[in-house]
Amino acid sequence: MLSKNKGQKSVYGGRYFAKPLPKYEMPEMSSSPRAAYQMIHDELNLDGNATLNLASFVTTWMEPEAEKLITENLNKNFVDADEYPQCQMIQARCVNILARLFNAPDDGGFTGTGTIGSSEAVMLGGLSYKWLWRERRKKSNKSFDRPNIIMSTGVQVVWHKFARYFDVEERLIPMEKGQYTLDPKELEKYIDENTIAVVGVLGITETGQFDPIEELNDKIREINEKKGYQVPLHVDAASGGFVAPFIYPDLKWDFRLSEVKGINVSGHKYGLVYPGIGWMIWRDAKELPEELIFHLNYLGGDEPSFTLNFSKGSSHIIAQYYNFLRLGREGYKQIMVNLKENASYIALALVETGKFELLSDEQGLPVITATLKKNPKDLFHLSTQLRTRGWIVPAYTMPKNVEEIPVIRIVVREGLSRDMAEMLIEDIKRWLDGEKAEEIDRKHKPHVC
Ligand SMILES: Cc1ncc(COP(=O)(O)O)c(C=O)c1O
Repeated sequence: MLSKNKGQKSVYGGRYFAKPLPKYEMPEMSSSPRAAYQMIHDELNLDGNATLNLASFVTTWMEPEAEKLITENLNKNFVDADEYPQCQMIQARCVNILARLFNAPDDGGFTGTGTIGSSEAVMLGGLSYKWLWRERRKKSNKSFDRPNIIMSTGVQVVWHKFARYFDVEERLIPMEKGQYTLDPKELEKYIDENTIAVVGVLGITETGQFDPIEELNDKIREINEKKGYQVPLHVDAASGGFVAPFIYPDLKWDFRLSEVKGINVSGHKYGLVYPGIGWMIWRDAKELPEELIFHLNYLGGDEPSFTLNFSKGSSHIIAQYYNFLRLGREGYKQIMVNLKENASYIALALVETGKFELLSDEQGLPVITATLKKNPKDLFHLSTQLRTRGWIVPAYTMPKNVEEIPVIRIVVREGLSRDMAEMLIEDIKRWLDGEKAEEIDRKHKPHVC
């Protein structure tokens, strides 16, 4: 990020630094490793506690064996394929594992790549749809200067970035009060010959709900057949891609559906790896235009590459593979079942207070999104109040068109045990009790939110 040089000095007391150190320019003199470590370590204590961070979908705990592998491989640049062939091999295995998990047709090989997160995966997927659309337009001598992409206002910011960075018009289908998933009936009004893709989300960031992917698929197929289009359905399964296969195996949302041509998933969310890993999986090789693949040979050997970055670490790919081997389907299933049970437990406790209304669904991510039936703006106060206990539970307003609805969202991850869930519920109830007393006084007190 751009940042202003405030020219401030930092003064570190105690035995390590007798003199101030500049914060925004490189110090003239060196420091000892111990002193530099201690100074940065202490400052980082100001960050929130990762275990109590119920705002984030991203993994905050891994097993010591995984951490050992991460540390052992921190110095390997993934792009050095000739030097580190096993890292490449491990990525290829992960792509195979995920393509099979997502039921890609097995025609002798699978197509996909590791990315820095779902954000890079979305950029790559979006580019492949844009390229294929353009090739089709060129072949039929039609204009190719006005591509559009269709999605709901509930998509994560990365889709707005993709549209802006790569010059694609975004056609946003608004959420309505009580309807926060993408309504397939709306598609007909938005799709045209310049549509490069429709995006469905398996695990909407705001609510944890799943868009009705099968219904979207059927509607797109119907429109494609009627109008002679080839509009693909992309599934943003950033969070849901590691949840649905294990706890909703009968839910059809992946390559079992004919129009689903690409899926992104974040390894660092419910893939249970520390931040820095995502995946983009295509239905088959035809969906990834050859023009987008670069073949590098100056590091020795032929390296096909379709990524936005050149250099990147290998550790997180290895950590993902560790989880696949270590947990297997059984292990992932057991964890996802636990998370979902804890989420249902919290959701029920909130509903039983009689004060909360849920926006999240039972068949969705292990996430609770709720609003207050009365005075929902008080949720901002609840969020601040919980912070004083260490809990990080965000309060925010829903996207455009339903922005008058404030919600809190609790993301249940592995670190949140049933015991901690109970403590969280107690803290929320305590706040509600305080609120009751305040309600009596409300007329006499200015409202704080
Ligand atoms: C639905 C969805 N898509 C994409 C992203 C971006 O993912 P990443 O953080 O892995 O880049 C997120 C992040 O929360 C998300 O929830």
